[in-house]
Amino acid sequence: MKKAAYGAPCAIILAAGEGRSLFPLTKDRPKALLSVGGEPILERLLRQLHQLGVSNFVVVVGYKKDKVMELTSRFQRQSGASVRLVENERYSETNTLYSLALAGADCAHKLVLLVDGDIICEEEILVRFLREEGEAVLAVDTARLMGQEEMKVRFGPNKIVSGIGKNLSKPSAEFLGISKFSGTVATELFRLARKILDQGDATSFYEEAFSILCDRDCGIRALDISGLKWEEIDFLTDYEEALRVFGSPGELRSYRASRRSLPQYLFCPGPVLVSDKVKEALASSEIGHRELEFSELLNRVRMKLAKIFGVQNFHHYTTVVITGSGSAANESVLGSIAAGKRILVVSNGEFGERWTELAEFLDLAPKTIKLRWGQPFPIDQIEQHLKREKTDVVCMVHHETSTGMLNPLSEVAALTKRLRVELFVDAVSSVGAVPIDIEDSGITFCTGSANKAIASVPGLSFVCGKRAAFDALKTTRAHSFYLDLYKHFIFNERKFQTPNTPAVNLFFALEASLDAILEQGIEATFERYRSLAAMLRKGMAELGFRFFIPEEYMSPVLTTVELPAGFEADEFHERLKRLGFVTYPGKGILRHRVFQVANIGEISPHQAQEFLKALKQVIQ
Ligand SMILES: Cc1ncc(COP(=O)(O)O)c(C=O)c1O
Repeated sequence: MKKAAYGAPCAIILAAGEGRSLFPLTKDRPKALLSVGGEPILERLLRQLHQLGVSNFVVVVGYKKDKVMELTSRFQRQSGASVRLVENERYSETNTLYSLALAGADCAHKLVLLVDGDIICEEEILVRFLREEGEAVLAVDTARLMGQEEMKVRFGPNKIVSGIGKNLSKPSAEFLGISKFSGTVATELFRLARKILDQGDATSFYEEAFSILCDRDCGIRALDISGLKWEEIDFLTDYEEALRVFGSPGELRSYRASRRSLPQYLFCPGPVLVSDKVKEALASSEIGHRELEFSELLNRVRMKLAKIFGVQNFHHYTTVVITGSGSAANESVLGSIAAGKRILVVSNGEFGERWTELAEFLDLAPKTIKLRWGQPFPIDQIEQHLKREKTDVVCMVHHETSTGMLNPLSEVAALTKRLRVELFVDAVSSVGAVPIDIEDSGITFCTGSANKAIASVPGLSFVCGKRAAFDALKTTRAHSFYLDLYKHFIFNERKFQTPNTPAVNLFFALEASLDAILEQGIEATFERYRSLAAMLRKGMAELGFRFFIPEEYMSPVLTTVELPAGFEADEFHERLKRLGFVTYPGKGILRHRVFQVANIGEISPHQAQEFLKALKQVIQ
């Protein structure tokens, strides 16, 4: 054991938390007991500190406390160190400030080292930290500053901390969750913690008490450990990173394999679960994008996409694929049309409003028939508007994802065809799930993306449109260099390439998902989605859920469901997620009223039934 050259503090380790965001890893253990490098992270911390001369520990336990007790008593036996346990019985409704106040009773007037139990770090950090002198010291990393969940600190050249918090303005560094206080400051800290709790807020973090100390100019110093390795394990991806940095390659491999066999079931409207064939296609061997291999792949993908849009004659209608999400396709369309075109947007939700926002951003001065979210399109009113006001283009969303409403595309298309007005359709969340019949409908441009009903991974979007309309863009000046639709069209069409580096492997994946749809027949895919939606709606109605819009207006892709009484949106989402099911929170004005359940991608009827069981469990 190394000598305690820097005084022997009492180390408080906070290990009461459930680690909800780490579920299912924390199903049977608190996050402090997650294993990295073959050792639970709490044991690693105790061992490291003990080797540096710390032999007095106070560990705050809560969730699955028996497991922590087992570990600490083994550690005590083997090391001879003293470990006192403090129980936070209210661990699920309190936060670190509450745990700190509980531990304080055992540590007043002592030099205190306060360490979050979800930290894993290299020993050098602790060595430097223990060596640092001062009334109060916080370990910080100036090389990291990101994340809304992370505690940040602000300090000047003298390293004196002037602020701490998650939403701190002008932060200088991230706080590691390792701090040290002299007996006097620690005693004041515990007093402040109790005072804040007495005011009734048990959900605060201990940094709130630190913040008061900062305001009083207590001289809290920041010790910058940037360049050294550490991880705070809050989320599954943090754990994976901790395994990568501190674990063995074998551990990382087996964790990744376990994640694949225990996926989160995505019942959100994109990204979606994809098939093994799509995943395998992603790992196709690398090809150069200026080589014939890519041209062949691009041509096949364009043809197959056209079929999904209902193109019968590739000479009349064609497709263009863009590396970028669905918005890239929408922006390429609107940003490439001739200046001065008169635009009418019909909107009844978030994505309809986005057409207006985009057109305004592009200085196209659109007119909008702005309906209530979830209000059905009034075809008569649209017709009257088109007859009254000279219009060149109507923009609409086919499936309005924010409400789950399927807008009457064929009726609007019949109208625009009759009145000789162009029609731009955002079919980002409907293509692949609902017939579009672009050619029969006479739609000018229709956009889509890979990661919704087509069931591939995110990153590619596409525009299907009249060949003549693509050709007509030749004389217009696009608003964007990258999203110049004519340039994409000409490259796709004449060179069988893309203007810039495409996301090559995503094309392999997209082709695999298109093959799956076309092989089973597009009608079969439509039917699969329809029956999944029907199964989910029946099950949810039986559980007493109410839907935001009547079923006759719903798409077969998504159901917008009212939150049950007494449930707060985030909590409801979190509870379902803990059972393995990811839904979508309501958007915009519906944020606290609804949640959304999509049924696209590789969802099986069995998983839909499991989802219903999970819902039942949550509301009971
Ligand atoms: C109808 C619709 N349009 C556009 C978008 C924007 O797509 P992205 O976020 O992929 O850019 C979405 C996304 O959900 C959508 O549902």
